[in-house]
Amino acid sequence: MARFSDILYKWYEIYQRDLPWRKTRDPYLIWVSEVILQQTQVKQGLPYYLRFTARFPDVKTLAAAPEDELLKLWEGLGYYSRARNMHAAALTVVETMDGLFPGDYKTLRTLKGIGDYTAAAVASMASAEPWPVVDGNVTRVLARHFGITLPVDSREGTTEIYHLASQILDPQDPGRHNQAIMEFGALCCTPRQPGCSSCPFHASCFALQQDRVSSLPLKSKKINRSLRYFYFYLAEEGPRLIIEKRLANDIWKNLYQLPLLETQLEIDDTQILTHPLMHELCNGHPCQILEISRPYQHELTHRRIIARFIRIQTQGLTNGENRMIINRKEIHKFAFPALIRDYLAEKGLTTG
Ligand code: ADE
Repeated sequence: MARFSDILYKWYEIYQRDLPWRKTRDPYLIWVSEVILQQTQVKQGLPYYLRFTARFPDVKTLAAAPEDELLKLWEGLGYYSRARNMHAAALTVVETMDGLFPGDYKTLRTLKGIGDYTAAAVASMASAEPWPVVDGNVTRVLARHFGITLPVDSREGTTEIYHLASQILDPQDPGRHNQAIMEFGALCCTPRQPGCSSCPFHASCFALQQDRVSSLPLKSKKINRSLRYFYFYLAEEGPRLIIEKRLANDIWKNLYQLPLLETQLEIDDTQILTHPLMHELCNGHPCQILEISRPYQHELTHRRIIARFIRIQTQGLTNGENRMIINRKEIHKFAFPALIRDYLAEKGLTTG
């Protein structure tokens, strides 16, 4: 029987997308691409990759940049700890590795934010070290093809998948193998409506033969999202408004936001308008309520956020500790969570 990778390569030759990180063996550039693509599809990630590598073509440039600028480039991609960890890793490389970004698994693994997946991807693609990558795409391909019916989020399931991934890895060209299997998962063996009718593995796929394509891979855990209620106050005086930096160890750390009131339970308009935060922002000066917005729902992996925006005009805009008064024209300089950026754009206060 033909090797798994031989069949895979034939498919890959025809269907692979032309992507910039596949044309380099620079471990730094491969690292950047893999971090971006961890929680993001290629279509969404590609423009970020191009902007990122144009601004930070090497690890030294990245290390020298202010974190705010990095977060601004990352704006809208989500999982912002990825960007903060990249910055920390870049500083380590410059300070302790003479600015040479490592291409071997063992050293890569010592860097902040680099786990098994990223180290395997970079080491296999930059240095041809034989490490299998196992991400969501690979897990789906293997669970379906080899009939792994254990939940893939259980310890046994993960071990089994990793074992299979190691067995089928092409030791001659692990980088190409890893790229090809991820591409196959992204383009053919997709979560919904996979291309089984033209799949090169149709003769050997367990799931196809057993009519279990839609039920594999199996997951045991249901994600429980906790609910959080956010009330953002857009306090303006003419063209000026107040923003603040999120410093706590929480979602969106080090990004900017409008002054925030977070509550355990939903509150009503009266509570929104009589909250001390309102008075703080206006410093007791008269203010005019322009809008209490509808609730906007924003889903993160483990959280569901219900956000409302309270837009007020005042004559006594007052910043407090950790708050800044900025001009509308400066909004584009700061990285905001997509939820807030979208609201500001909707109100015509910023573009995009
Ligand atoms: N997803 C994660 N890494 C990828 C890569 N190198 N190519 C395509 N999709 C990916």
